[in-house]
Amino acid sequence: MKNDFFTYQAQTTPHPLALEISHAKGSYIYDTAGNTHLDFVAGVSACSLGHCHPRITTAIKNQLDKYAHVMVYGEYIQQPAVQLSQLLAQQLPAPLETTYLVNSGTEAIEGAMKLARRATGRKEILYADKAYHGNTMGALSVMGFEERKKPFAPLIPECRAITFNDEAAISEITESTAAVLLETIQGGAGFIEPTHDFLTKIKTRCEAVGALLILDEIQPGFGRTGTLFGFMNYNVVPDILVMGKGMGGGLPIGAFTASKKLMTLLSDNPKLGHITTFGGNPVIASAALATLQELTESTLIKDTLTKEAYFRKQLNHPSIKEIRGRGLMLALIVESAELASEIILRCKERGLILFWLLFEPKAVRITPPLTISEKEIKEGCDIIKDVMNQLLKENEQ
Ligand SMILES: Cc1ncc(COP(=O)(O)O)c(C=O)c1O
Repeated sequence: MKNDFFTYQAQTTPHPLALEISHAKGSYIYDTAGNTHLDFVAGVSACSLGHCHPRITTAIKNQLDKYAHVMVYGEYIQQPAVQLSQLLAQQLPAPLETTYLVNSGTEAIEGAMKLARRATGRKEILYADKAYHGNTMGALSVMGFEERKKPFAPLIPECRAITFNDEAAISEITESTAAVLLETIQGGAGFIEPTHDFLTKIKTRCEAVGALLILDEIQPGFGRTGTLFGFMNYNVVPDILVMGKGMGGGLPIGAFTASKKLMTLLSDNPKLGHITTFGGNPVIASAALATLQELTESTLIKDTLTKEAYFRKQLNHPSIKEIRGRGLMLALIVESAELASEIILRCKERGLILFWLLFEPKAVRITPPLTISEKEIKEGCDIIKDVMNQLLKENEQ
């Protein structure tokens, strides 16, 4: 299988982790060689309820027995998509009431950018330095990392970077701005939280000049930071909310939510202003509905904060300079990029899955399933500390 993987499947890096998967359950992934791996990454924040959660599996199977796909998005009334959009509206503050379902995070970003331009009649979109919003041409245009964009230029014009958490950014929002697009908590940049009232000030300025605030909640959304969405921690409500990853409990989905008034604009002048074949697919929507029901009916979201505290207590080690993030969106910051990589690779050999962050090479990602237990947290943290001790010892020799 390994040779075929490298021969036939397009690669994203020359050195993928190349774990050959047999199956997965709860917080564990099992490889074809019979090894068990404790998962501290959850499919990069996608498997919010762990692997093969019975509520999700049952919802998928039940829907598959009824129908898998019948029509493009938006034409027929399909219960899973309607119920999912309704439950989202019930959980969100006004005016976030109407949801457009798509197939991935980057696609949701595209839809949000189009909606902002359509709604304001303006072109300029401001984004943050070190931002990551996906990899399609539009999302790439608002990525805050020039060297990863250049080979694909020209990208969408009139997209301009501002500095996250810098109040000077506020005056850059003008009457020409269609939207300010920000991650509520910057992911790829190193799990950077907005400083006190940064987002509120951005929103106030947007309102004053008629621009829209788009918040990308593709990473913190769906309960990872102690509230259903990250923005709920920072006293701000976006005009357009973008979601993905953990929304589908491991299945591919994205969405953007706004007021009914705004969202209606995509269906008129031009008609079919945004269309997709598989958006709102009933099997995927069933999985997302089961995920959202489980999150909102259990204590899992609140528990992320207790689990964060437990992680922080366990991860008291001289090699860790800082632990960034909130809830179960945590990044260990170590001395160097080499050390971060070595920790990730050695932990893999010891049966613990960790991962990198896109633009912060000194970071080690910890984003486990929200269902992870204290025992599993301790098991993984013990491996991390063991590996760090070993590396310290080797350095001394
Ligand atoms: C903050 C953020 N926005 C957008 C995306 C893109 O989502 P997707 O990979 O589903 O297209 C990601 C994915 O990592 C992300 O972390």
